[in-house]
Amino acid sequence: MKITTIILAAGKGTRMRSELPKILHKIANKTLLQHVYDMSYQLSNNAIKIVYGHGADLVRDTLKALAVDWIEQKQQLGTGHAVMQVSDQIANTDIVLILYADVPLLKLATVKQLIANVNDQSLALLTVNLINPTGYGRIVRSDSGQVTKIVEEKDASATEKLINEGNTGIMAVQGKFLKKWLNQLNNKNAQGEYYLTDIIEMAVADGFNVLTSQPESVDEVLGVNNRLQLSHLERVYQQEQAEILMEQGVTLIDPTRFDLRGTIEHLGIDIVIDVNVIIEGKNSIGNNVKIGANTHIKDSIINDNVEILANCIIENAVVGQGSKVGPYARLRPETVLAENVHIGNFVEIKKSSVAAFSKINHLSYIGDSTVGSKVNIGAGTITCNYDGVNKFRTIIEDGAFIGSDTQLVAPVTIGKNATIGAGSTITRNSPENQLTLSRVKQVSLAGWQRPVKHE
Ligand code: UD1
Ligand code: CA
Repeated sequence: MKITTIILAAGKGTRMRSELPKILHKIANKTLLQHVYDMSYQLSNNAIKIVYGHGADLVRDTLKALAVDWIEQKQQLGTGHAVMQVSDQIANTDIVLILYADVPLLKLATVKQLIANVNDQSLALLTVNLINPTGYGRIVRSDSGQVTKIVEEKDASATEKLINEGNTGIMAVQGKFLKKWLNQLNNKNAQGEYYLTDIIEMAVADGFNVLTSQPESVDEVLGVNNRLQLSHLERVYQQEQAEILMEQGVTLIDPTRFDLRGTIEHLGIDIVIDVNVIIEGKNSIGNNVKIGANTHIKDSIINDNVEILANCIIENAVVGQGSKVGPYARLRPETVLAENVHIGNFVEIKKSSVAAFSKINHLSYIGDSTVGSKVNIGAGTITCNYDGVNKFRTIIEDGAFIGSDTQLVAPVTIGKNATIGAGSTITRNSPENQLTLSRVKQVSLAGWQRPVKHE
């Protein structure tokens, strides 16, 4: 059984009040359209087709990596008209699934249940009972409870408006019949649009059953029309992510103040995450990791027993087992910390590796460097890696001790177990096991007197 999924994505989204097409707005840093795509991509034997229109170039450009057929709907003449654009790409035996790009949280299980209702005599429709169905098409049923048609809000009579079973717009039907009914659509209605919903009445006239199912939660079928709805669905999504993590053994001090904007591909247990932590991109977090408040981690690997204190920013970095980072540390891309490394407050590290048991505890910038094991880098040490044109590397070998307030002017190597005196500007390689310092000798002037104020 082959499935063709049609994602309707041509609409403008006027109420977003945005230059950006609605479906490129994001939940958890992922576009609405991508959410719908990612869900439907999990259906097997499925060809995905996206009907796009508003913001065409930008939409295609942003999502060019998707494995789909793009079908342009030049004028948005209604949901029926949108599906018609795909007609000649639908095989008679296909099951056609209609999804909306602005309904991002629909679940795979709900879709599978819907599809299971499709056969030669039945069309499957996803409906939802709403306390306030304003704006939705209403599901009209006969006295015996059979669906007879869908009436759009703007075409509904006063009694039809009282129906609180709403049309989600999501449906599944066999290709052969869909194509037949699409051919019969007209736009003689209050909005002058080709309504996809009109095929329901045609199906019933052809002796079809309309089988309805409902999502587990209303949030699954809520659309995004404005930024308030966008923020609501962001929260729903985040609450769900938080619950999944807690089920897997993560303590979230406050699940309402945690944001996952990506994935944690490998997740350990006994992880404790304090408030206002954001995890973005693709990450891995080992066992017994503690993450302090207000920390932002992106595309990083955090190994077992790591402690990250509050207010750190970690991007595209690896933090080795047992290491301690922060508070207020910044690990920039291509930072690799081995086991039991200590990175303290106001330390920035970029494109550098730091081997086991080394410490960089206060106020330092380490860039383009290779730092050996058991190295101690004193407060205020700076690698001068950039001459304004080119970047150079600093190598600090095992066991070196760098005194505070030192500048290491790259390219430069500090030998094994070398000691650098505090306040030095090191411009040449420093031999191993020796003390190197570049400091003006301290003098004291015995006869010196403080100036006095002239009266
Ligand atoms: C539609 C349904 C309504 C349902 C509601 C649920 C119809 C006629 N009505 O109404 O019964 O309760 O959704 O939200 O189907 N689109 C296109 N091209 C078009 C028109 C729309 O791609 O020419 C896309 C939009 O981008 C959107 C989706 O189809 O993703 C729904 O369109 P929208 O205008 O929001 O439909 P509603 O009037 O809300
Ligand atoms: Ca809508």
